[in-house]
Amino acid sequence: LASKRATSGPRTRAARTGVWLIGARGAISSCVSYGLAGMAHGLIAPTGIATEREPLARLALAPLGELVLGGCDVVRRGLDVTVAELARQGILPRELVAACAAEAAAFDARVTPGVLDGPDVGGADLDPRAAQLGAVPPREQIAAVQRDLAEFARAHDLGRAVVVNLASTEAFREPDRAWNDLGSLERALDAGRAQPASIVYAYAALAAGHPFVNFTPNRGASIGALRELALARGVPHCGNDGKTGETLLKATLGPMFAARALRVLSWQGYNMLGNRDGAVLADPAHRQAKLRNKDEALRSILGPGELHTHVGIDFVPSLGDWKTAMDFVHFEGFLGARMSLQLTWHGSDSALAAPLVLDLARLAAFAAERGESGEMAHTACYFKAPIAGGSHAFAEQWRTLERYAAERVR
Ligand SMILES: NC(=O)c1ccc[n+]([C@@H]2O[C@H](COP(=O)([O-])OP(=O)(O)OC[C@H]3O[C@@H](n4cnc5c(N)ncnc54)[C@H](O)[C@@H]3O)[C@@H](O)[C@H]2O)c1
Repeated sequence: LASKRATSGPRTRAARTGVWLIGARGAISSCVSYGLAGMAHGLIAPTGIATEREPLARLALAPLGELVLGGCDVVRRGLDVTVAELARQGILPRELVAACAAEAAAFDARVTPGVLDGPDVGGADLDPRAAQLGAVPPREQIAAVQRDLAEFARAHDLGRAVVVNLASTEAFREPDRAWNDLGSLERALDAGRAQPASIVYAYAALAAGHPFVNFTPNRGASIGALRELALARGVPHCGNDGKTGETLLKATLGPMFAARALRVLSWQGYNMLGNRDGAVLADPAHRQAKLRNKDEALRSILGPGELHTHVGIDFVPSLGDWKTAMDFVHFEGFLGARMSLQLTWHGSDSALAAPLVLDLARLAAFAAERGESGEMAHTACYFKAPIAGGSHAFAEQWRTLERYAAERVR
């Protein structure tokens, strides 16, 4: 035994997992960073983090305390500005902010200039370096992102880095034929044709072997060309658009109407929000990109029929991060009786989103560790417009994730 001990030497600590947040100075990123530090200090519980509970907790996931955050942003505004806003709105408790100041400052210092998306030129407090990077040919943008990722992994001796897109909603663009297959996209990149920033980030991550999570409605890795790239490089990815509020309710309540054979005639939704995401969505081109995903789930759950739906989004600055969503469901039962369901959802957008980001980063790192590649269909329950996964019904999506976990417990 003694000689065995001598030859095997001390056990090396498993290399840590990095999480690279695109939009690192935004509200969700701030809640991810303070949430992780707060849990490490024992100040808050992992409420809302499904990977900390059965059955997902039985997977060999990267421990929350071992995650290292890095990222990029396009603004000069420091993390402290976003954090002060979230504290004022009662989302980040003041004692948490005080206790985690050192970790937050270290994270903020690691934030590098991102790639400004073309239509966002002219935004407030932009980092001139991000604006410059936004103007160079896409191959150079990709190389710059990959350099930052490599430096992040080197500086923190990471075994793996997952890239999570938490940037603002991009302006809507009509689909480009060059996005359909990898060959066409490569040719467009070679020709220097500008691409949406989310496509640049997704390409950079996947081509360098980093799993990619797209929490935004932006195109990211959902285009055919990048789905092909992920498979060719053997990298897992998932998206699009985190399912935190109104769509979560629709995905849960919709199947109830369908199962009872009740005829849903109209489903009206009205969202009011006052955070930066809301300010961006006040612009019609950006709002169009977000609204693309809002109806899809409901229509697929309720099937064909004369369903009238509408989702309105308004920017109401006084609400800050407290989003209020009202739903009015008009439906018909036996004898043609017409009834309605009306509900109001009042939630902190960022506090709802941050735990999902941590779940997804851990699940993406886990999938990569196991050599799984392509779309992570088992994460459909986390997204409004899942890239893969079949059903939109929440209970069914959740069972798929449970089955995935059961087949992979340690
Ligand atoms: N909070 C939710 O419940 C929820 C749900 C689903 C999706 N989302 C999406 O998540 C994203 C982030 O939400 P948030 O509330 O944190 O928004 P936010 O506005 O507070 O933060 C976004 C950050 O991204 C930065 N950014 C913009 N363009 C960038 C680029 N090209 N590269 C790097 N950084 C860039 C902005 O400067 C900002 O700091 C949004 O796209 C939102 O639509 C949020």
